[in-house]
Amino acid sequence: MCGIVCAVGAMESSSFLLAGLKTLEYRGYDSAGLAVLDASGALRRSRAKGRVAELEARVAEENVSGQVGIAHTRWATHGVPEERNAHPHVSGELAVVHNGIIENYAELKAQLEALGYVFVSDTDTETIAHLVQACLSGASAFVGEQKVPCADLFVAVRCAVSHLEGAYALAVVREGEPESLVVAREGSPLMLGVGAQGHYAASDASALLSVTNRMIYLENGDVGRLTRDAVELVDARGDRVEREVVTSHLSADSVELGQYRHYMQKEIFEQPQALGNTLEMLSGAGRLQPGIFGARAEAVFAEVDSVLILACGTSSYAGNTARYWVEQLAGLPCNVEIASEYRYRASVANPRQLVVVISQSGETADTLAALHHAKSLGHRHTLAICNVPESAIVRETALCFITRAGPEIGVASTKAFTTQLAALFLLTLLLAKGHGRLMGQGAGDGADNACEQDLLDELRHLPVAVEKVLALEPEIEAWAQRFSDKHHALFLGRGRHYPIAQEGALKLKEISYIHAEAYPAGELKHGPLALVDGQMPVVVIAPNDELLEKLKANMQEVSARGGELFVFADGDSRVETSDGVNVLKMPEHYGLLSPVLHVVAQQLLAYHVALVKGTDVDKPRNLAKSVTVE
Ligand code: AGP
Repeated sequence: MCGIVCAVGAMESSSFLLAGLKTLEYRGYDSAGLAVLDASGALRRSRAKGRVAELEARVAEENVSGQVGIAHTRWATHGVPEERNAHPHVSGELAVVHNGIIENYAELKAQLEALGYVFVSDTDTETIAHLVQACLSGASAFVGEQKVPCADLFVAVRCAVSHLEGAYALAVVREGEPESLVVAREGSPLMLGVGAQGHYAASDASALLSVTNRMIYLENGDVGRLTRDAVELVDARGDRVEREVVTSHLSADSVELGQYRHYMQKEIFEQPQALGNTLEMLSGAGRLQPGIFGARAEAVFAEVDSVLILACGTSSYAGNTARYWVEQLAGLPCNVEIASEYRYRASVANPRQLVVVISQSGETADTLAALHHAKSLGHRHTLAICNVPESAIVRETALCFITRAGPEIGVASTKAFTTQLAALFLLTLLLAKGHGRLMGQGAGDGADNACEQDLLDELRHLPVAVEKVLALEPEIEAWAQRFSDKHHALFLGRGRHYPIAQEGALKLKEISYIHAEAYPAGELKHGPLALVDGQMPVVVIAPNDELLEKLKANMQEVSARGGELFVFADGDSRVETSDGVNVLKMPEHYGLLSPVLHVVAQQLLAYHVALVKGTDVDKPRNLAKSVTVE
């Protein structure tokens, strides 16, 4: 979703700002712009519809340069993707960039129009620009009892944000204050970079790594003034605050494409490493300790009587998979709810329930709001599974597990999903342990240890098992050609592989734009079978599990109607290639963890179909990486 990069320093800023915007391209956007204060202190702005490369050409053509600047990639919410709606938006001598959504912008706009401000865009952001200007000019409707103009930009922004409802990360520059810029944050992420030659701000640390790895993560309600040598911050109450400077362990290399054609491909192939890193604590022969989820985890896991998982998109499918594990191994009721629905549903809270929020980014607005909603209902036990340690979701949950997938740039989530599954399996084992459910199973010296050790050994072996699936790429690539003229596809799975069918369908639709639906295979005859014909490829996930024979019967139903099957079968599934039935043999049967292997094959299929279709794999149309608005 929208990205912000800002700089106030010794160097010329526009090339840094453009490079930062390129780093943020993965978030998804449809226009870009920047504003700088030039050598004479005058405000210069360039904007362009489309890619950052177009903005770059415009900046060069218009010779826009200066040491203080703000820049933005816009993912359209209010108003179509046109240059006039691109940020920065200006009002008089000041310019604003903004991520998030201002919910009361229509009321503010009406008030500002009554004061004579003229709006030239359809955005909610332009309201902020005029509002700051109104505060600077002392508009009595906004400056309150003092009824005098706000002294400077810092004061004016503090005044303006007190009138905003909704989510924002914003940055403002003003002619006449050529050595500073002002930032503010509520809801949307914004961090500051502390560099040797200046200060910076961005919505994502990766945009700042070329100049610094020393970050300050702003809290909700913070407003800051950045100069080359100092950062001045106030909190939501207006009190001066100091925020900790944290060293980011992201490296510039970790966000480089390297030898790969696309980030999605790179991230699919990074999965053995990402899983190995996430499961590093299992590298010794030691037992599993609840402390990996936080100091209080052991007590909480023993006390909880059920699990509620809240997430969106791919993360919700990780939750759907975990539901099978939690109920089977831990014996606890487990529900999974789409975060955007849960937050608006009247639900009954159970204070003994463990609320698990799953998010790659940790900033997904719906998931964050669902977490707030759960807490407001009286849920006491909250746990995050997240890939970004400094994210809002991690900061707002009592327990957490940080997956170590590394930065995920491709919009289509891959390594985040498999590492979430690994984390959820660890959670399941600890819940099972906490409820005495690992006892009496398995064989060996101690009955409980034997089972735990078997499952831990399978987890430890996952990186190697995933490598073997990756080796299937040439065969999957050959299959992908067969999807080149298809407009629809059906994905079937059963049991814990139904969520993998859902994830396979989501991957395919996101990046190849083929309409794909997932069904639990037993549901086929209750409706979707009507769609099956020679033009509808049916992808089947066929592990050798307790439902295999039922699944084979479902496959017969497809074949009997002339449908073409593409079956991912475990090596020992006894499903063979025949007329209209294409079978690809997975390397090994992997029991409870089999979804982790099968999803990798689905990722490769979607990736290669997208290549055949010629779509923009890493930046699919209309989508954003981190969905920070509702
Ligand atoms: C995955 O391919 C998607 N792009 C999307 O569904 C994503 O998983 C969802 O927006 C949730 O994001 P999060 O994990 O960062 O919260």
